[in-house]
Amino acid sequence: MADITESSEWSALAEHHPTLAGTHLRELFAGDPGRADRMAVSAGDLYLDYSKHRVTDETMRLLLALAVRAGLRERIDAMFAGEHINVSEDRAVLHTALRLPRDARLNVDGQDVGADVHAVLDKMADFSGRVRSGEWTGFTGKPIRTVVNIGIGGSDLGPAMAYEALSDYADAGISARFVSNIDPADLSGKLRDLDPEQTLFIVASKTFGTLETLTNAKVAREWLVAALGDDKAVSRHFVAVSTNAQRVADFGIDTDNMFGFWDWVGGRYSFDGAIGLSLMIAIGADRFREMLAGFHTMDEHFRTAPFEQNMPVLMGMLGIWYNDFFGAQTRAVLPYSQRLARFPAYLQQLTMESNGKSVRADGAPVVAQTGEIFWGEPGTNGQHAFYQLLHQGTRLVPADFIGFAEPFEDHTAGGAGMHDLLTANLLAQTSALAFGKTAEEIAAEGTPAAVVSHKVMPGNRPTNTILAPKLTPATLGQLVALYEHIVFVEGTIWGIDSFDQWGVELGKVMAMDLAPALTSPEPPADAPDPSTAALVRRYREWRGR
Ligand code: F6P
Repeated sequence: MADITESSEWSALAEHHPTLAGTHLRELFAGDPGRADRMAVSAGDLYLDYSKHRVTDETMRLLLALAVRAGLRERIDAMFAGEHINVSEDRAVLHTALRLPRDARLNVDGQDVGADVHAVLDKMADFSGRVRSGEWTGFTGKPIRTVVNIGIGGSDLGPAMAYEALSDYADAGISARFVSNIDPADLSGKLRDLDPEQTLFIVASKTFGTLETLTNAKVAREWLVAALGDDKAVSRHFVAVSTNAQRVADFGIDTDNMFGFWDWVGGRYSFDGAIGLSLMIAIGADRFREMLAGFHTMDEHFRTAPFEQNMPVLMGMLGIWYNDFFGAQTRAVLPYSQRLARFPAYLQQLTMESNGKSVRADGAPVVAQTGEIFWGEPGTNGQHAFYQLLHQGTRLVPADFIGFAEPFEDHTAGGAGMHDLLTANLLAQTSALAFGKTAEEIAAEGTPAAVVSHKVMPGNRPTNTILAPKLTPATLGQLVALYEHIVFVEGTIWGIDSFDQWGVELGKVMAMDLAPALTSPEPPADAPDPSTAALVRRYREWRGR
């Protein structure tokens, strides 16, 4: 595999960088009145303004040339065709197949993937319809009122984020809760006020071998059986989502009540399949399918749009620009939507588990900085917490602002609509970040000389602004697919396998090795290192062991 940093396209960007590094966005806008109209692109319902970036047309041309050099077009085709681009696990990467229309045909490794996907979706739709209508009852004949999804990582973050995002569409009087952590406080807190007779557990685990999920599921089962007094209650209150039917059966869940998926769906790419069952029960199959159509719209855009108009390509390459040429350490994601409160956490797994790699797909060490660090909070809360650093700190933090024109519901106070105020804040922040306020402007306001420098707003802080008409199932699908494909674009440039996650394995194994040392009466001699041994001793002492 060629080293991308040795390419002439990479060198051209490296040479071009100093010309931009010393240029302010104020100058770029002053010298280019058409910039805002030109540096914008639409995909489905999403509108992206990327004019507030430290780029010129020449920068974009060079970035897209790098994408071509890295073979992005061929890689996109390979992914959509089901080639085994997850090389370290020898698997196809086909989350895009989860949202194929019913009549689409895709044959992969001798299997009609589209037909398989729709068979599962139909089974989910049938089951969720029965739960929503009250036809599916608990053991004592009462309808289900709460669904508790037990899962972690991709088996939690996706459905939890999407359920909150689309909670305005939950129309059947059934709410969802999400238990993930092995901390007993998570499960107990979520079960505390629930009626076992009206609670349905979905045990969601791709592998059905994850410690946290199986432990929480066992404790939940004990809670249920203790309350309903009969083991037979389990089959009315537990269903599973997994790729592993044998383990589901071993756990004691009837595989008739199992919803499957396939090893070509990564956990962090899975909530638009069976892992989204809790969401489908809450919002209904029709809304869920609208979300899938939204995903598919963005997939088609990514697959077919020329790179100059391709939203994931443009955003991915801008990510490369800051990460690898400006040395930016992190990227903030700032949704101006309370409903997207969990979106940054969801993106953390999607992006960092995918691209946090230090070897390339061929096993050689990477040569460039990989893996953007994503973080964020909804606006306007973030403004009153960490935006100070974004505006006046010494670090460059590129940020994605996400907003919606229409709220689901609005209130007016003193003549001002709350949603308009929310949007005004989004727009004000991106403008202030880009253009700042000079010492002259501040002095002209009569600010005492000694305070002027404290009030200077340097500006020149780059942002994307993504706007959509409304947060609907379809726009959510488009938004998630957008970031999935950004991850793909960046991973392609870095030449890494964005679809494995070997780095999480060692800690899991060591935790299982360490667990006995915390409880055993023997001295904790087998701790892996002296520091850990001392901590084990301290823990045991405090627990009276
Ligand atoms: O520990 C990482 C991980 O494997 C994630 O990739 C995955 O989403 C999560 O654990 C949960 O895995 P599973 O769905 O198999 O329980």
